[in-house]
Amino acid sequence: MKAVVIFWSMTGNTKMMAEAIAKGAKADLFNVSEIAPAKVENYDLVILGCPAMGADELDDTEFLPFYEEIAPLLIDKKVALFGSYEWNDGGPWMDNWLADASAKGITVSDSLRVYSTPSEADLAKCEEFGKNLIE
Ligand SMILES: Cc1cc2nc3c(=O)[nH]c(=O)nc-3n(C[C@H](O)[C@H](O)[C@H](O)COP(=O)(O)O)c2cc1C
Repeated sequence: MKAVVIFWSMTGNTKMMAEAIAKGAKADLFNVSEIAPAKVENYDLVILGCPAMGADELDDTEFLPFYEEIAPLLIDKKVALFGSYEWNDGGPWMDNWLADASAKGITVSDSLRVYSTPSEADLAKCEEFGKNLIE
């Protein structure tokens, strides 16, 4: 299975998660600004990461436009979502994201949210999350 991790991160927390998940999933790793949307077509497993921004929303400067553009390509693929949050208990931005993905017809296999800066234990969970996705 050809896997890719594509992330956006403002202060590095989601980036740390992305690196650990890519290691676990043996996936290619891109910042969202480094990959053309059409390239997503080359992958079977697409793992997307974005922290909670706005009012429990996705980053609307770079990540959201990219995600909206690739959404039709994700319908036939294995998809997983992750990111870091801090302000709102439980990370409701991920619930919003999952609901949005579902409304777009995207089946999300798994999702992972981490509070603030990932601890060593969180990073181990990230690596495991990636590993499980390719098994
Ligand atoms: C502009 C801005 C908006 C944010 N909005 C939320 C939010 O709505 N809900 C939340 O739980 N955290 C919110 N946060 C906190 C971030 O999600 C948190 O700091 C996260 O760890 C940042 O991840 P990053 O280091 O990958 O950028 C916000 C942070 C910033 C700077």
